Amino acid sequence: MTDRKKATLPFLFNKVEMGEPITMLTCYDYPTAYFQEQAGIEIILVGDSLGMTILGYDTTLPVTMDDMIRHAQAVRRGSPSAWLIGDMPYMSYQPSVESAIRNAGRFMAEAFCDAVKLEGGAEMADRMAGIVAAGIPTMGHLGLTPQSASALGGFRVQGRGALQAKKIIDDAKALEKAGAFAILLEMVPERVCQIITERAENCFIISLGSGPHAHGQLLIYHDMFGLYPKFKPKMAKVYGDAGNVILERLKNYAKEVRAKEFPQPENWFTMKDEEYQELLRLLK
Ligand code: KIV
Repeated sequence: MTDRKKATLPFLFNKVEMGEPITMLTCYDYPTAYFQEQAGIEIILVGDSLGMTILGYDTTLPVTMDDMIRHAQAVRRGSPSAWLIGDMPYMSYQPSVESAIRNAGRFMAEAFCDAVKLEGGAEMADRMAGIVAAGIPTMGHLGLTPQSASALGGFRVQGRGALQAKKIIDDAKALEKAGAFAILLEMVPERVCQIITERAENCFIISLGSGPHAHGQLLIYHDMFGLYPKFKPKMAKVYGDAGNVILERLKNYAKEVRAKEFPQPENWFTMKDEEYQELLRLLK
């Protein structure tokens, strides 16, 4: 596919050491993974955001482990080289350390992921430590954690007040102590992200809407290309309006079919005259 080398933890930490920002995107299917592989994206997250972007739910909560495994397998087939992270869906790790280890193991054994991600701070440190002790690299996720959106008051910036910011900073340390190789900060003020990044010793920090100071950046693929019709988060940069391009071409297609302009000869298959004559004879 490409001559890319497989991304590994030493490769990622080396980038951090060299001060080279890490690129990370979400991805849920084979063709998109293929393009991300060609583009050299270093970390791919098969996010449970697929519940919204792919399956059309209003939240990530209905997503199951089987949903996640099916999509992670497709992404791995499209991108053999990226560091592939499977996102632990709602209630796949919250109930117990054992459920966390078992479900994390499924991502590794069934979808050939390199790591998993879970949401939550100090209260999830035992799940994080359990998975890490089972030999599975684990990323933390703080700030806006969509699985807890109801408790957090909706999809909104977290840590604007000093007390809440201090809690996020303490949570980041708790996750690092529990063995996180990285922590994703979603919709946290950039100053808070900067403090956490500067204090990180054994893990690196990825920002989603949390500013430029992290070791790397994440965007949701569907936000980058205008592919999620329900809303566009403020922090997302739209790199191309693929959604509108697709919509216009779909309208063209419908118009051409109705006007009998499609298909044209290059869009269909033919048979030789003698076979056709023989067919007519057989049908008599
Ligand atoms: O599910 C996901 O894509 C995520 C991102 C929002 C970070 O967890």
